[in-house]
Formats: sequence, structure tokens, C-alpha cells
Amino acid sequence: MSKFTVLNHPLIQHKLTIMRSAATGTRNFRQAANEIAKLMVYEITRDLPLKDVQIETPMGKTTQKVLSGKKLAVIPILRAGLGMVDGVLELIPAAKVGHIGMYRDEKTLKPHEYFVKMPSDIDQRELIIVDPMLATGGSANMAIEALKKRGAKHMRLVVLVAAPEGVKKVQAEHPDVDIYAAALDECLTDNGYIFPGLGDAGDRLFGTK
Ligand code: URA
Repeated sequence: MSKFTVLNHPLIQHKLTIMRSAATGTRNFRQAANEIAKLMVYEITRDLPLKDVQIETPMGKTTQKVLSGKKLAVIPILRAGLGMVDGVLELIPAAKVGHIGMYRDEKTLKPHEYFVKMPSDIDQRELIIVDPMLATGGSANMAIEALKKRGAKHMRLVVLVAAPEGVKKVQAEHPDVDIYAAALDECLTDNGYIFPGLGDAGDRLFGTK
């Protein structure tokens, strides 16, 4: 079973409340999404491996640490996942970005893949999949499946708000993919929205509808 972790840092919780409020406009919603993504990535990269390197400071020779191990890539699930990419890249500017386009059929709530463009070496990268909402788990599972089909081996899923149903579904189908959320909410509504959630993340990020 994969790990499910709620990152309840006070700054993350505060910014998430801003996002949840219906009174928050596009600009502040977008800003908070990127800021939370940045804070979350800071938290989840605590376990990145380090190696020793010899360098010379202006004072003389010394052995210090640099990152070792796999390079990273951030994979937003379109469209709403785009709202988290800049925040991640602020901390990991050299990360590559792969895009995966999924849309949810409004009637069946089933996800459909319509676009996938990945770095050529995703099999050798640690992938950070980002999507603000983990609702039914259908899109996340389909995205993970699409990545595995293309050779991806190491990935984590980073969401802002998760529903218990979505967490269960991803854990059941992908026990190798750890999930990180800023909050675990109560439930899904009949039309597939998370309650209390924050509404439609894509529409709120891009000012559509
Ligand atoms: N997608 C959203 O944007 N919001 C939800 O509550 C569920 C899925």
C-alpha cells in the first residue's frame, strides 16, 4: 500500500483556506495554488539523496553536499495541473515538464486521455505528478497508467485537495505511487465535486465559465 500524507504546514493550510473561499478571485487563487505547490514540493523532497563533492570556497578546500540520484520531472494533468507547475519549478528550475491531457466526461465522470507529451527519459526520472483535485481518482489513475505505459517507474502524486474515495482508488490501483495532499476533505458530491473542496479548480485558476 502506498503512503498517503497530508502536509498540514500552517502556511499551506492558510493558503488553502484562501483558495477555498468563493470570495477569492482568479489572481489570488492562482497565486495561492503556486505557493502551496512550492511549499509541498519543499516538504516532499526532504528524502532526496545527496552525495559529497569537493569544492573550493574563497577560504579553501571543503567537502559539501549536492543532490545525487534521479533527475526530476513535473507532470501536470491538464488543465488544472498547470496551476501548480510554476510553484514547483521555482524550487526545481532544472526539472523537465511533461504534459498529460485528461478531460472528464461531465455525464459519466470518466476521464479520457487526449494529449501526452513527455521528456524522452521519463524512465530514468523521478516524476512529480500534479493536479489540484484528487476526486474520484479516475484521472489520476489514468495518468499514472499512461506514464507507466511509457516507461515511468518512479512517481509521486501531489494534489491540493483529496477526497477519501480518490485516495482509496489510487492506492488500490497503484500501490507504488505515494500521494501527498494539502487536505483530505469529507466526501464527493453526486456530481463528482469534492466537498467542501474549492469548486472547479480549472475554472477558478483560469477565470473560465
Ligand atoms: N475537479 C475539480 O476541479 N473540483 C472538484 O471538486 C473535483 C474535481
